[in-house]
Amino acid sequence: MTRVFSGIKPTGPVQLGNLLGALRHWVSDQDEAETIFCVVDLHALTVPQDPTELRSRTLELAQLLLAIGIDPNRSTLFVQSHVPEHTELSWILECTAAFGELRRMTQFKDKSTDAEFVSAGLFTYPALMAADILLYDTDRVPVGDDQRQHLELARDLAIRFNHRYGDTFVVPEPSIPKVGARVMDLQHPTRKMSKSDESPQGTILVLEDLASVAKKIKRAVTDTDTEVRFDMEAKPGVSNLLSILSACTGEAPEVIATRYSRYGDLKADCAEAVVETLRPIQDRYATYTADPTGTAAILALGAERARATATGVLARVRQNLGLLPAG
Ligand code: TRP
Repeated sequence: MTRVFSGIKPTGPVQLGNLLGALRHWVSDQDEAETIFCVVDLHALTVPQDPTELRSRTLELAQLLLAIGIDPNRSTLFVQSHVPEHTELSWILECTAAFGELRRMTQFKDKSTDAEFVSAGLFTYPALMAADILLYDTDRVPVGDDQRQHLELARDLAIRFNHRYGDTFVVPEPSIPKVGARVMDLQHPTRKMSKSDESPQGTILVLEDLASVAKKIKRAVTDTDTEVRFDMEAKPGVSNLLSILSACTGEAPEVIATRYSRYGDLKADCAEAVVETLRPIQDRYATYTADPTGTAAILALGAERARATATGVLARVRQNLGLLPAG
């Protein structure tokens, strides 16, 4: 069976773009693959975090993943720092990666340019991500388009290591959803929906008050003419609403477009579809947050299962590298 692995950082609230672009594919992947999902708390440490917030965000993100439909009976759901093999393999992969190769990562360039403090961890971030993936003999990694380069690096490191030390790692394949799955900012539809503090009116949060969700969609920027047509280039605002509606209903945006002649009707239906997508998630989230010990038990079991696989792969790595066995 194909093994799927993906991770998400516990920084900032999850927004509709994360849900429709990436997370809902995690849920459907459960039907066809062996799935492993990880809250990557160590990745959050590349910039200073408030300890209390980090702890609660990590737990809440796990609860949100459960609420959207990650099923702990079918998936392994765990927190990265609960499986220390990630950091051990990360060091080994840092020694497999070239300095120049890490320096070329566009995310590192973007985040380090003009930053007051650039941690060494920000630089080696992709090696830890490669460790996450390679520790589980992962076949496929569903991620957003912004992670494509990091995934290429994980592949390169696996191939290089296998070449140097003999067959050790499974070389993972990316799985990146089509451009149509990209959710754009409601107020600036040519840029991606991102953190709410940058554009509060253009961003919808998965746990946002539903009346506010509907209001934001009804106030979304549309285009100057009045025709409802799916055309990302010429009509980014309307096309974004069509894509969102399409992601909620499963129907193609071009087909949805043929049913509308007025922006107002499209907005009303889009708002309703999003509200009805979020409502059950918010309800389930409330049941998980009411039971933090239940969530902790799920995560403990997830870590145990993850660790069983990770220790096996790491044993192979140690052996092939030539590290002296301890016993
Ligand atoms: N870097 C990813 C992001 O920012 C998160 C991540 C960490 C990840 N480790 C991973 C994604 C392993 C997929 C697989 O979105």
